[in-house]
Amino acid sequence: MPPFTQHFFWGVSTASHQIEGSTTNDWSEWEQKNAARLAEEAPNKFEHTSPRWNEIRGEATDPNNYISGVSDDSYNKWREDVDLLKQLGVNSYRFSIEWSRVEPRSGYFVEAAINHYKEMLTALEQNNIEPFITIVHRTIPTWVAAQGGWANKKTIADFAHYTKKLVDVFGASVKYWTPLNEPVLNVTGGYIAGLIPPNRKTIFAGLYAYRNMILAHNKAYAIIKAICPSAQVGSAHAAVYAEAEDGHWYNQILVNLIHWFTNWKFFNATKNCLDFIGIQYYTRGVIGWRKSKYLIPLPGNIPQPGPASDMGQEIYPDGLYKYTQMVWKRYKLPIIVTENGIADRNDTLRPQYIKDHVVEVEKLIADGVDMRGYFYWSLLDNFEWDKGFWPKFGLASVDRTTKARTLRASAKTYADIAKHNGMVDQ
Ligand code: BGC
Repeated sequence: MPPFTQHFFWGVSTASHQIEGSTTNDWSEWEQKNAARLAEEAPNKFEHTSPRWNEIRGEATDPNNYISGVSDDSYNKWREDVDLLKQLGVNSYRFSIEWSRVEPRSGYFVEAAINHYKEMLTALEQNNIEPFITIVHRTIPTWVAAQGGWANKKTIADFAHYTKKLVDVFGASVKYWTPLNEPVLNVTGGYIAGLIPPNRKTIFAGLYAYRNMILAHNKAYAIIKAICPSAQVGSAHAAVYAEAEDGHWYNQILVNLIHWFTNWKFFNATKNCLDFIGIQYYTRGVIGWRKSKYLIPLPGNIPQPGPASDMGQEIYPDGLYKYTQMVWKRYKLPIIVTENGIADRNDTLRPQYIKDHVVEVEKLIADGVDMRGYFYWSLLDNFEWDKGFWPKFGLASVDRTTKARTLRASAKTYADIAKHNGMVDQ
């Protein structure tokens, strides 16, 4: 008998900007400015890292790939998406509300956008699907970006104001909330490494944005609980899991530093404002020193042999177990895997990837960890940020022209797991 409780959440996750289409926010503006550059840089970035470069080359070198545009048109086709959820037999759906639709100008809330999400919530309720709402999944309205985004402390108050509005209007039908998706990746990618909006490259801006996002989470927690005391608020935390190359102590020091900055610093500051810990696990990093173009060697992620996703990410289910155990031992809070998935256009690796990660969740439960749910990323192929549309994470593929959704074979694998509340054959 699988160890999952009757209330275990089997779900799938999506995010507004990645599936809705026709959004106007910091990302849609950034895409216009950066598409040509991203297409040009693609061979350099992916020729040697993606095992499927020959298949993705066409899309990856086309500037249109980097414009989210109408994306999956889920803003209009959401009923088809709810149908997919029903076919999968999942009991939960994590999605985000698009801030730029609800509050396109400071303090001005759009009723039509609010009603849109209300309609979705009603449809989910009618189908007994528990909604998990992400308040901000990376994208911010252009007016928030113009004031400096998360590097301006005013954004905390604006986010709190928007959060209060959402809880006022949706609180009766939403119990589970994740205020911010992967703040740490927002900070490192957007404010320190400068790879994604707002393209800043300053450690100080990064540290300040990190602080502000932590405060924003804690504030959102207080607001949600004040309006709906029985609500459950959690993180949607990028599980940054690293191991030392060859187990060397000097690499282990780096690993400890990485874990501290990306994981423990965040959880230590938010632990009193978390009813559950949501973790998003995809792969591990193996940290060691490598020659660099500078005079000194630099620490980096060392690619591992073995099967990898289309994005070149190592498949390492063990990491989900090891990472979750570290989190559990430190914080003893209920844990939900709010994202886990693979870019696999041919759907050859995905069925086993899902099974192998679900087995790790089973082991965690058997070993006493309070696991409450597992969400596959993602329901649909979608806009994978600075990589555009070529990475295919979906249980359903989406025709880029007609927007027709088609469930892949792996959808059946996951539907079986959800139906049997665990794996049937192992
Ligand atoms: C993010 C998603 C993203 C996924 C796959 C997570 O970091 O929350 O938005 O699409 O990983 O890379």
